[in-house]
Amino acid sequence: MNDNRAIHRAAEIIRQGGIVAFPTETVYGLGADAFNPLAVARIFEVKRRPYFDPLIVHVAHPADLEKLVKEIPSHAKKLTKRFWPGPLTVVLPKKKEIPDIVTAGLPTVAIRMPRHQMALSLIEQTDSPIAAPSANPFGYLSPTTAEHVREQLGDQVDLILDGGPCPVGVESTIVSFLAERPRLLRSGGVSLEEIESFIGKVEVGPTEESMPSAPGMLPRHYAPRTPIILDRWENPLKSYKEGKIGFLMFREPEKSFKFDHVEVLSKKGELREAAANLFSAIRRLDALNLDLIVAEPVPEVGLGRAIMDRLRRASGDRFVDSSLGSE
Ligand code: TXA
Ligand code: MG
Repeated sequence: MNDNRAIHRAAEIIRQGGIVAFPTETVYGLGADAFNPLAVARIFEVKRRPYFDPLIVHVAHPADLEKLVKEIPSHAKKLTKRFWPGPLTVVLPKKKEIPDIVTAGLPTVAIRMPRHQMALSLIEQTDSPIAAPSANPFGYLSPTTAEHVREQLGDQVDLILDGGPCPVGVESTIVSFLAERPRLLRSGGVSLEEIESFIGKVEVGPTEESMPSAPGMLPRHYAPRTPIILDRWENPLKSYKEGKIGFLMFREPEKSFKFDHVEVLSKKGELREAAANLFSAIRRLDALNLDLIVAEPVPEVGLGRAIMDRLRRASGDRFVDSSLGSE
């Protein structure tokens, strides 16, 4: 099937209440018609996702935002104007038409317009917003290729649209606009610095109120099967002499580095490239039946915040070298 026919077919499936995995610029999503509660329920089933974890609603036009939320504060307008289409999700008071299952009963809804032609065409042809979490079993790493989705959810979804590897590679940045000052709920593809350069200072981190029980905020999430620790590569070697260790390096290691299982996120140490490779690299290491993955910390600026956030959660925040700090 060529792309256009596949998108056409995918839209038809969603209109009829099915679920489709599709590429976005961040990660692959598993989508259903946001106005079809039964179809949305199937997403929760397939992912084994708890019903208290709300989904992001994806739209194809900035103007669609107005149809889904009660009001749009000026800061939210500014940000969507600048970053849509793109890896920014805004949380706003929802209109009552949005089914409760999408928002886990919250009075708010998370919305974004992806920067991926296939995703946009799919939403447009479906002629309805698409509710979609990342297309992975609950708690595991998000998929950044169609192959990742096939491996883990293949026979349970009605169709997988293949748009190649996701260019950004980490999920969208989530900003909530419920209080006076905007609040960053999840770091992601748009950096905190970029956001603050447009709307000034924002609060950082979820609160009980802004995120009642969001598992994306659980200490262990976005996790591979293999235990993963964040540390300088030399440190754990003494204690794991017998075990098989894999290394997730931020940049090309020095010449003296002679180990078998090494993934380099970006030869030159560029954060953008590192983010795009992150989940694929962890998956490759996870497939090797190692005893441990040692991940090298990356600088915590720009996209580095999202990378470190995912690495900390993948590690369950265990064994983190105290000198590296932790949120
Ligand atoms: O890049 C992305 O955002 C990807 C692609 C597919 O768009 N989607 C994604 O969805 O990462 P998911 O479901 O894996 O993560 C969405 C996060 C969850 O942690 C959820 O708790 C939070 O968004 N969320 C959704 N609705 C919310 C709301 N009303 N208030 C606060 N958080 C919300
Ligand atoms: Mg997810």
